[in-house]
Amino acid sequence: MAEFTRVASCEEVQPGTGISVQVKDRTIGVFNVEGEYYAIDDICPHMGASLASGPLNQDLIMCPWHGWVFSVKTGCFAVDDRSGVDSFPLKVENDEIFVEV
Ligand code: FES
Repeated sequence: MAEFTRVASCEEVQPGTGISVQVKDRTIGVFNVEGEYYAIDDICPHMGASLASGPLNQDLIMCPWHGWVFSVKTGCFAVDDRSGVDSFPLKVENDEIFVEV
C-alpha cells in the first residue's frame, strides 16, 4: 500500500540540486527546482546510473553516464514525452519532504 514517507528536510535539498534516497525497495531522486520539490525514480533505465548525481538544469536532469535527459516534474524523457521513469507524489510539511511510494 502506498504511503508517504519522510525522506529529507528541505535544507538537505538545495535549489538546483537533487539527492538520492531509499524508500522501501525503491531508489528515488528528490529534486529542488527553484523551491519546488519533485520525486522520480533515481535509476536511469539505460544502464542504471543515479540520476540525482547528474546536473540539474531548471526541471531537466541529465544522466551523468550517457546524457539521457528527463523531466524531474514528470519522469518523462525530455526529447519526446515517452514515459521515462516513474514519478512519485511528494508533499512538504514543516520543512520536511515526504514521498508517496
Ligand atoms: S545510464 Fe543513463 S544514459 Fe546511460
